Amino acid sequence: MTRVITIDGPSGSGKGTIAGLVAARLGWHLLDSGALYRLVGLTANRAGVDADQAEALADLARNMKVEFQGDRVFLDGEEVSLVIRTESAGNAASKVAAVPEVRSALLQWQRDYAREPGLVADGRDMGTVVFPRATVKVFLTASAEERANRRYNQLKEKGLDANLPDLVAEIRERDERDSNRSVAPLIPAPDALEVESTALSVGEVLARILDKVYETCPDLRV
Ligand code: DC
Repeated sequence: MTRVITIDGPSGSGKGTIAGLVAARLGWHLLDSGALYRLVGLTANRAGVDADQAEALADLARNMKVEFQGDRVFLDGEEVSLVIRTESAGNAASKVAAVPEVRSALLQWQRDYAREPGLVADGRDMGTVVFPRATVKVFLTASAEERANRRYNQLKEKGLDANLPDLVAEIRERDERDSNRSVAPLIPAPDALEVESTALSVGEVLARILDKVYETCPDLRV
């Protein structure tokens, strides 16, 4: 079976950055599952479909034509890399992600990313629902303030508008929705390594995760 490393955690915990670094280090494939939910949110907004139209949303999710080229994302041939990273796209994603029909529409799609030599998948339910038999599971957290701060810096770097108090409030609201929904809520898998990263550098987080990976799979140590 293809080996999978799952990295789950709340918004802004640094999952995306860390997952990218782990995948690059191992030479494995990468799945940014949040991007898929962001794409469903964007498609739904454009089609005027609301979060309560479950079947219509699932249809949109099944029929999206998505292509990832490194950091770039294309939807039906149009580059949407920046559009899907805005806070409003994140909030739209969190709303459609609470719809069970949308989650099941994306389930097999996500599992199909597990290809040799291995996959690093980041999201909210990678270790609990999508890849319950993953080789290594990580749950990455950080305080809401620290996550808002990181998001603020990321948005500024990209030249996008950002307001820190609004970001803290939005992150709290999104945590609440992602953690309390009835399907695939944001919770650590019982066998996940929990990494609290508020006071850690990216390098320190990466080192802890790689230690766990090499301990579990000694053949991957170079
Ligand atoms: O990781 P992200 O911020 O790009 O995710 C955007 C939203 O998508 C997030 O608020 C919750 C949802 N999501 C999810 O429900 N399950 C996943 N595996 C990934 C993201």
